[in-house]
Amino acid sequence: MNHTIRKLSSDETPPMDLLLLADPDQEIILSYLDRSSVFLMESEKGELIGVYLLLPTRPHTVEIVNIAVSEKFQGQGFGKKLLAHASETARSQGFLTLEIGTGNSSIAQLGLYQKSGFSISGIDFGFFLRNYPDPIWENGIQCKDMIRLSRHFS
Ligand SMILES: CC(C)(COP(=O)(O)OP(=O)(O)OC[C@H]1O[C@@H](n2cnc3c(N)ncnc32)[C@H](O)[C@@H]1OP(=O)(O)O)[C@@H](O)C(=O)NCCC(=O)NCCS
Repeated sequence: MNHTIRKLSSDETPPMDLLLLADPDQEIILSYLDRSSVFLMESEKGELIGVYLLLPTRPHTVEIVNIAVSEKFQGQGFGKKLLAHASETARSQGFLTLEIGTGNSSIAQLGLYQKSGFSISGIDFGFFLRNYPDPIWENGIQCKDMIRLSRHFS
């Protein structure tokens, strides 16, 4: 399906429903949303397919702090395309490292990110226990630790 990816302008409203698919805590989303660049993937009919947020964190380093594909469009390769676009955006803006984090219980995401060129760089033990008030379970596994992944550009 034909699609385009564009940066959301400052007078448009970010798609909170979609962002909540990737991060269940709206307060946490709001804590990074204002500081992030928002990119939307849309179909040629103008339907929203997906979103990702890029946040510069340290010198030369930018992080995908949220990425989501609308349920209707999942499993069709759009997540991979968003990740490729994020890499190209980060590289073309001169960043040397692109990071992403996911839960220990997010099996599909761990597969997808490694297939998309990211390697595990560390584990933030207890991240989800410390920062999220409600327990998160996925795939029958409690989400406790954040697996950090990164890819580098030369
Ligand atoms: C995660 C998400 C963005 C992926 O987008 P998507 O469009 O569904 O993903 P794609 O179709 O591009 O790719 C999925 C890839 O992951 C792979 N994958 C899925 N489950 C896997 C598993 N258990 N093991 C290995 N690879 C797996 C698929 O095989 C596919 O790779 P392939 O094309 O080589 O076969 C989307 O499912 C989503 O929005 N989920 C809810 C929000 C979320 O979890 N966001 C991320 C928070 S960290």
